[in-house]
Amino acid sequence: MQIIYQMENKYKSVRPITDNNLPQVFIETYGCQMNVNDSEVVLSVLQQAGYALCDSLEKADVILVNTCSIRDNAEQRIWGRLDVFLQEKKRRKNVIVGILGCMAERLKAELLQHPAVDIVAGPDSYRDIARLVKALDSGEKQINTILSHEETYADISPVRLDKNGVSAFISIMRGCNNMCSYCVVPYTRGAERSRDPHSIVREAQELFDNGYKEVTLLGQNVDSYKWVNPDNPTESVNFAQLLELVALIDPKLRVRFSTSHPKDMGNGVLYTMAMYPNICNHIHLPVQSGSDAMLLKMNRKYTREKYMERVAKIREILPDCAISTDIIAGFCSETEQDHQDTLSLMKEVGYDSAFMFQYSLRPNTKAARHFVDDVPLAEKTRRLNEIIELQNTLSLASNQKTLGKVYQVLIEGVSKRSDEQLVGRTPQNKACVFDAKGYKIGDYVNVKIISCTSATLIAEIVEEATPEGAAKKIDFNDIRNDLKEIGKDLKNIINKEINNLIGSKNDKD
Ligand code: 5AD
Ligand code: SF4
Repeated sequence: MQIIYQMENKYKSVRPITDNNLPQVFIETYGCQMNVNDSEVVLSVLQQAGYALCDSLEKADVILVNTCSIRDNAEQRIWGRLDVFLQEKKRRKNVIVGILGCMAERLKAELLQHPAVDIVAGPDSYRDIARLVKALDSGEKQINTILSHEETYADISPVRLDKNGVSAFISIMRGCNNMCSYCVVPYTRGAERSRDPHSIVREAQELFDNGYKEVTLLGQNVDSYKWVNPDNPTESVNFAQLLELVALIDPKLRVRFSTSHPKDMGNGVLYTMAMYPNICNHIHLPVQSGSDAMLLKMNRKYTREKYMERVAKIREILPDCAISTDIIAGFCSETEQDHQDTLSLMKEVGYDSAFMFQYSLRPNTKAARHFVDDVPLAEKTRRLNEIIELQNTLSLASNQKTLGKVYQVLIEGVSKRSDEQLVGRTPQNKACVFDAKGYKIGDYVNVKIISCTSATLIAEIVEEATPEGAAKKIDFNDIRNDLKEIGKDLKNIINKEINNLIGSKNDKD
């Protein structure tokens, strides 16, 4: 693939600036990985405007809270935090409080009525954040919740807020077009748009050059990633191609991605994963429900059968690939049989892990407007508990299958229980704990699994691993390059033949 479209990035700093002489900003982040990455974009913009990061709200001149609206309890937590910020504002008169993210977008001016809030800024207004702070000098509260069809923050290098300096998030797209009936995201994050792939590759390269060993490509539905070159609409990049471009940066850079959508996940992505040992064998494939009636009502656009067909394809192409999921218990009119269908699907797939939730009505979504939230709370809780209990059993069974096997682990931190032990994850995203034996954060090691719980693998280091050496897969790269060469030769032969034909036709004319 040719890279012909280049874009300059304005902000180069990768790590936070801490300097007590500069105005101090404190950022609190709730919700998904995307929000974590958005906070990093906000910090990048503010650092450019002369701010430095501080580690507590008591020291901050500006307190920002990046919010989540996905379920009601996420929003309730934020309201609670606003009361804490109000106390801080009473203590220190000039402190500024800004609400960012999905809740800012959903509630807009309603949030400005809270006495703690000075600024409300939606997910597409982060370039404007320094101006919003400055504009408070006028004495007026400030708001920008305009959603964009183009904004991807492609030219902004996020200032990394992770603790370990090993793994980082890269947003490859924003928004969502899927309109699942229960979900507020299309309303709070707007329409789907894909980011320029060159800026993504450059960001990943910059991270690798700064010592990072793992990137996670983020989008609400990565499989619908599609970038079309505005200068040449015949040139486009899909998700499988983007994944390949990032994987090619270096075999020592691990690549992960989230979230996959069962209706869009094609075989191309699976074959790309099979080709590159540094693309981790883990797919997060939210199912939401095992009942066709519920899937239809949720507007998920696949059936149980179609979902299972995708799972079978993953198993066929990537036999050691972990599959995780999201499940919602007690959606509108869910019957006991629907719930049983979810449990049976979970068993059929044998998920390695899952995020599990009770349905929470979100105002203005299709479900809120057209369906009745009629499963009683106690029943939702019972069903959710059954789902969690089953998943615990499945997670344990999945972990037990790893006993005695050797996995390559990227060391990400020190164990909470002991300084002598390190933690990391297998490609399948399973957390692993093992004795340090002189290794350090950022190293790759091969570990043998000796015991496990449903949440963690206990392991021992068997040898130092180079990612290339530890790769158990066939190296398709050589085959691929050969095929490319053969392709070129074929193209030349065909072109020659066509030219000959045109030549002889012209001769005749
Ligand atoms: N209630 C409960 N869970 C929800 N999710 C999204 N919207 C809701 C809701 N209204 C869950 C879905 C999604 C995950 C990110 O959050 O399972 O995949
Ligand atoms: Fe929400 Fe569905 Fe989009 Fe995920 S794919 S963000 S669940 S609308």
